[in-house]
Amino acid sequence: MKAAVMRVNNDPLSIEELNIDDPAPGEVLVKTAASGICHSDLHMIEGGIPMPPPAILGHEPSGIVEAVGEGVTEVAPGDHVIGCLNRWCGVCKFCTGGRPHLCLSTYMPTRAPDAKPRITDANGEALNQLGDLSSFAEKMLCPERNLVKIRDDMPLDRACLIGCGVTTGLGAALKTVSIPAGASVVIIGCGGVGLAALQGARITGAGKIIAVDAQSWKFDLAKSMGATHCIDATDGDPIAAVQEITGGGADFVFECIGLVPTVQQAVAMTGRGGTAVLVGVVPVTEMVPLSAADLTLSEKKVVGSFMGSNEFRVDMPHYIDFYLDGRLMLDEMISSRIALDDINEACDAMRKGSVARQVIVFD
Ligand SMILES: NC(=O)c1ccc[n+]([C@@H]2O[C@H](COP(=O)([O-])OP(=O)(O)OC[C@H]3O[C@@H](n4cnc5c(N)ncnc54)[C@H](O)[C@@H]3O)[C@@H](O)[C@H]2O)c1
Ligand SMILES: [Zn+2]
Ligand SMILES: [Zn+2]
Repeated sequence: MKAAVMRVNNDPLSIEELNIDDPAPGEVLVKTAASGICHSDLHMIEGGIPMPPPAILGHEPSGIVEAVGEGVTEVAPGDHVIGCLNRWCGVCKFCTGGRPHLCLSTYMPTRAPDAKPRITDANGEALNQLGDLSSFAEKMLCPERNLVKIRDDMPLDRACLIGCGVTTGLGAALKTVSIPAGASVVIIGCGGVGLAALQGARITGAGKIIAVDAQSWKFDLAKSMGATHCIDATDGDPIAAVQEITGGGADFVFECIGLVPTVQQAVAMTGRGGTAVLVGVVPVTEMVPLSAADLTLSEKKVVGSFMGSNEFRVDMPHYIDFYLDGRLMLDEMISSRIALDDINEACDAMRKGSVARQVIVFD
């Protein structure tokens, strides 16, 4: 099968022919239908999120089950599925406490170290799999608990977006925090994740929904998805602009970029008693200085939101219903559909901010 391989950080991904094993007990072989490209993939290429090469990235996939290993009961060949990197163990305190997205099994290798590797290159060298998924490849071999079966009438080139970006953004607004009707909300960063958070704010009945981005062409998109105000971060002081629109600061601010200055802006834009939700991933090597006095004296909360606080086997089918019922806009989020061979150009486009979401479509 063909896949895009990260050989060295910061280098272009190399398109290679690889070998993929048959499913072991509990595993599923999936023919990848489509994969979104998320900024977290770019963070891994650039080293901001650790992922040891050689590796196959990609973690926002949809596909069709091709074969299942012994003991697999929840999906069968022919099923349409979405893959999510939040594989869950079902028995830890997070899984049994209703927060399976925090289950640490997401980071645990699932094949024994001495077992045959799932994916090898032409020299027989094993390749690391991102979240057991690795969707920048024609096929995925993963544990069944990385997958959720979905409705057959959901188009797979849009379903993939729900695998990460949409679940992350929508879930940040619908699950990580509870937004009362009429509350003021700011979304900083209108990429795939931010536009989904913006739609989550609209679905909860937020009042003012303020979109902030450095690319003003995104504002028509943001308005079509529910933004009531848009602020160009390159034109004046975005903090002052939010304070003016909200009368002193917003009830909820979602940082959906992952930069030190925009995290600081998010906290500054948050009003007294409000909540800043950190969705963007700041590179692990960087720290964010914040005024503790501001947090204390204005009783602001700063909360992290990981993968939309998902219970993905339950949430993703709901999000698909939202789309098919017309309450969630996905078509508009897709700036382009590309072939796997064009992945490096797609990464450059994401770096420049010239796209919302790009989707790799497989034959
Ligand atoms: N918390 C999680 O579980 C989780 C899951 C997925 C992605 N993420 C992270 O969310 C972030 C966003 O991901 P994405 O795929 O939507 O990225 P993206 O590149 O598609 O979107 C980022 C947006 O921010 C805008 N932007 C960049 N710099 C700006 C600035 N200084 N001021 C204002 N706007 C600016 C860009 O124009 C773009 O619209 C990334 O850090 C990603 O790693 C987090
Ligand atoms: Zn992602
Ligand atoms: Zn668990």
